[in-house]
Amino acid sequence: MARLSFLDVKKSFAGVTVLDDFTLEVGEGELVTLLGPSGCGKSTALRLLAGFIEPDGGEIAIDGIDVRSVPPHRRDLGIVFQDYALFPDRSVFANVAYGLAARRLSGGETRQRVTAILARVGLESLADRRPAHISGGQRQRVALARALAIDPRALLLDEPLSALDAAVRAAMRAFLKEIQQSFGKTTLLVTHDQEEALSLSDRIAVMTGGRIVEVGTPRDIFERPRTATVARLVGSNTLVPVEAVTVTGEACFARVAGGTLAAEMTTAGRSSLLLCLRSDHLDLGPPDGGGPVGRVVQSHYLGRRLEAVIRLQSGHDVHVTAGEDDPFLRKGEAVALRLRHPGRLLDAAT
Ligand SMILES: Nc1ncnc2c1ncn2[C@@H]1O[C@H](COP(=O)(O)OP(=O)(O)OP(=O)(O)O)[C@@H](O)[C@H]1O
Ligand SMILES: [Mg+2]
Repeated sequence: MARLSFLDVKKSFAGVTVLDDFTLEVGEGELVTLLGPSGCGKSTALRLLAGFIEPDGGEIAIDGIDVRSVPPHRRDLGIVFQDYALFPDRSVFANVAYGLAARRLSGGETRQRVTAILARVGLESLADRRPAHISGGQRQRVALARALAIDPRALLLDEPLSALDAAVRAAMRAFLKEIQQSFGKTTLLVTHDQEEALSLSDRIAVMTGGRIVEVGTPRDIFERPRTATVARLVGSNTLVPVEAVTVTGEACFARVAGGTLAAEMTTAGRSSLLLCLRSDHLDLGPPDGGGPVGRVVQSHYLGRRLEAVIRLQSGHDVHVTAGEDDPFLRKGEAVALRLRHPGRLLDAAT
């Protein structure tokens, strides 16, 4: 088990900055996820740690030791690539044994180690197959087994589940968590899938534009974002400008889009504020309850729930999760918003 750290790392390609002031620490045995939109620099961070590319500045360390001059194969990291990068002309067994070739194990030791890992990931009966002759979920397990076979100091997983269809992905997510915990490997995972990040991570680092915006537990990130950027990227939130804040005894209210909504107590000063409206905390009511008024402009059937868009008189579109039997959910219906839990007040500049 190892501790991984990035300190003030910078990287640009052809003059374009891709990572800036990138600082992150992954503790021993911890699973930390880099979560962010496509192109924000997630894979670049992983590739820097793996040693495939070099930083322009800053420090990258494993267990506190700067690894910038250590070649990739000496960093002892188990890597799973998004497309798995299996050798198509080698068997499952040979793919998993690949990383062991450089380790001068005897034939017997290699066989024993590979067989044990294949059994651990449930692939022992497929050892002689080629990657083309197994399923996507099985290929994912081969890639994971290959990464684990070298008994790495840490695992680096780049979108390991994105090539799988939804049903297999859910099963593999649980399996990945179980493997990571039972092997106790420090893991840096990259994904743009927030459910994956929320369900697998000890901590999540939310990134955008080459920078980490916030680091926190899944609950911190989802329920208590500290920045408007994270509230926009994670969850299903609408941020609406606050016109005024009133505090009455223990209660706090924000005036938004001409109506009043419950807000959490804030110590924020004069900065311009946004009220974060969580789609699953909003209710629709008759347009005379004091909340901001708008009209239902869309509703989408999503199986267990409906997602409606309410266009407020101010022009803001707010997303609301509703039950199918919600009496107000008719297109064109005039409604007012109500919050079941106080909304978060966030500094617009964050
Ligand atoms: N070798 C390279 N040369 C030039 N530009 C690159 C190179 N590698 C990455 N980039 C650019 O750096 C940016 C970040 O790329 P990166 O692969 O880290 O993104 P990402 O967050 O992993 O995105 P995705 O979720 O789509 O995989 C992108 O704009 C990409 O085009
Ligand atoms: Mg990527």
